[in-house]
Amino acid sequence: MHDNFGRTIDYLRISVTDRCNFRCTYCMPEHQQFLPRSDLLDYTEISLIAARFIQHGIRKIRLTGGEPLVRRDIDILIRELGRHVKSGALDELTLTTNGSRLEQYAPMLAQAGIRRINVSLDSLDSAKFQSITRGGSLQQVLAGLQATRAADIAIRINMVALRGFNETELLDMANYCAENGFDLALIETMPLGDGVAGRTDSFISLRDFLRPLQERNELIPDEHVTAGPARYYRVEPLGLRLGMITPMTHNFCGDCNRLRLASDGKVHMCLGSELYVDFREAIRAGGLDAVDRLLQKALRLKPERHDFEAQMEDRNLRLHRHMNATGG
Ligand code: GTP
Ligand code: 5AD
Ligand code: SF4
Repeated sequence: MHDNFGRTIDYLRISVTDRCNFRCTYCMPEHQQFLPRSDLLDYTEISLIAARFIQHGIRKIRLTGGEPLVRRDIDILIRELGRHVKSGALDELTLTTNGSRLEQYAPMLAQAGIRRINVSLDSLDSAKFQSITRGGSLQQVLAGLQATRAADIAIRINMVALRGFNETELLDMANYCAENGFDLALIETMPLGDGVAGRTDSFISLRDFLRPLQERNELIPDEHVTAGPARYYRVEPLGLRLGMITPMTHNFCGDCNRLRLASDGKVHMCLGSELYVDFREAIRAGGLDAVDRLLQKALRLKPERHDFEAQMEDRNLRLHRHMNATGG
């Protein structure tokens, strides 16, 4: 599949719920309204849309949320999607999670064919972790990471760079990841959603955030590719693979390969745009031809790029949608 800018679209992110058991301060306001359950696609509907998209050329699926593992009976959907990996129709099924339910779910993920996952972890200090997640337990996440490792699933830690919060923690996090054999991805914070405080104050470019690590190590460009926006480096002599995701300072939209299916059936064509195409009625009417037509429409309408830089500067341009609606 190609969009109007000639980009190959072969990656689908599926947000299975907008709910989360954490409330990361950069992701959503403390009192967030979630979608009523009746608005959500059920697992049969998600599976049908996913299967149709795979027929049209999707090769990789990532489940996100909110927190994907808090949706009831999520193992049913994961096993169903995992069948496409086992048949060779999909190259990869993976997920991005906050890690809090991994202790319980890691063995199931491995059985379903998941080989690597991304886990959000912004601090290794339990008080700070509790404050950024508004109540999350660091111990639970660390235990989940060990369970995932024991299940032979590769892990990339996602750390959002936040000025005045975790800029003094990069070395600790890098050491922890290197010791455990995890990759680490650093992410520049993006200005999505209303009522999320401190966007401009907490923004720090990765160039600045990296300084303490660079003073002690060399960063050597690495060939590793994951079909996502991260550019990878080897950090030596630490022995760490480090990804950098720089939506604010180094735009990567020219290589964008993805669509996002939200839990209510809307397909969002860009993280940085309010545009969407609604698939819910089409799938409820059982019309796979209508799904095909809507998919073509989504490809035609996919924007060329986001403009988070302008949205960071000018509050009036900000999108109302929060990150938890589309899962990043
Ligand atoms: P890999 O498959 O491991 O490369 O994953 P990924 O980096 O694509 O996914 P992940 O869910 O771990 O997202 C990491 C960060 O990248 C999050 O902050 C996402 O919001 C951001 N991100 C992912 N895709 C896009 C994108 O298309 N545009 C922008 N601006 N940010 C993105
Ligand atoms: N900017 C950048 N990354 C964000 N994430 C959530 N909100 C934001 C934001 N405003 C990250 C999470 C998770 C990934 C899916 O997106 O930390 O790792
Ligand atoms: Fe939940 Fe992830 Fe948002 Fe944190 S960033 S509140 S873990 S969805």
